[in-house]
Amino acid sequence: MSEPELIVHFTEADAARQLREDARAGLTDSPKWLSPKWFYDAAGSELFERITELPEYYQTRAEHEILRRHAVEIAELTGAATLVELGSGSSEKTRLLLEALRKTETLREFVPLDVSESALRAATTAIAVDHPELTVRGVVGDFTTELAALRAGTGRMVAFLGGTIGNLLPSERAEFLAAVRAALRPGEWLLLGTDLVKDRQRVVRAYDDARGVTAEFNRNVLRVLNRELRADFVPEDFTHVALWNTEQEWIEMRLRATRAMRVRVAELDLDVDFAEGEDLRTEVSAKFRRERVRDELEVAGFGLHRWWTDDAGDFGLSLAVAR
Ligand code: SAH
Ligand code: AVI
Repeated sequence: MSEPELIVHFTEADAARQLREDARAGLTDSPKWLSPKWFYDAAGSELFERITELPEYYQTRAEHEILRRHAVEIAELTGAATLVELGSGSSEKTRLLLEALRKTETLREFVPLDVSESALRAATTAIAVDHPELTVRGVVGDFTTELAALRAGTGRMVAFLGGTIGNLLPSERAEFLAAVRAALRPGEWLLLGTDLVKDRQRVVRAYDDARGVTAEFNRNVLRVLNRELRADFVPEDFTHVALWNTEQEWIEMRLRATRAMRVRVAELDLDVDFAEGEDLRTEVSAKFRRERVRDELEVAGFGLHRWWTDDAGDFGLSLAVAR
């Protein structure tokens, strides 16, 4: 086995600087917001893994079902030599692709990219053990800014699974897809997972589970601010809120202040006032329809080559080719 390589593009200093900028912009805006990127410290990454096992959170199981059925077809269609995975997390479902690509004997390199160094370290170490035939090169990076730095190669497939594209706002999503396209050559591939529009109660339950794991995941962002920016949020003073936005077809996660309070963010020399009942938006999670995915891919310069869903029609997986 060759040791997995870990390249750090997004250093602790970069993260600290960006977090300061983001927190100042979001906490002084009206309504207040934070970027979901900051959920994923080591504790947040572990909480996300617990979410994927919840009975209410159907996404991971649905995408797993699709990959179990179609990974071999994906491997045969793409004949990928390099698999780049964005927002890779534990890369658990990606193992189905790696197994299928082992059979086609085309894959040489696996390049997972994530902001969470802890998740990336664990995933690259485990995958390097199970796939001694591959060069495993983890990149600690931000997928909204690092795409231009992807090493040029041929026969690349970029996988962006889990529905994480839904965590970008529409303008960010268009920019992101265009940047992925710009990083690829014609004929290279994008494999994109998208959660689909469905019964609103089921979606809300997936983001407001009975055991309160999602609520803890949501509040974790306040713990990140406390630690990294010397803030004095009391996470228990905020309730977890998951709201379906019918017009946008997305879930909004918010943290709602249970009382009026002033929070000190020492690192920013900033005092933030919350009124009782005031919300801080921490995430959107957009749900898609096939036509919207196809159209957004087209605009970015991709052609939708295959579209699969699980049997229940909960989740969509697109295989798109760069034109
Ligand atoms: N792909 C995995 C994990 C999804 S969770 C799955 O399908 O289960 C979202 C992942 O994206 C987390 O691992 C998080 O650390 C990562 N992430 C979130 N924002 C990011 C960003 N801007 N750049 C890189 N990674 C990001
Ligand atoms: C990573 N992302 C696709 C998850 C989602 O469903 O939007 C993050 C998450 N937020 C709450 N639960 C899970």
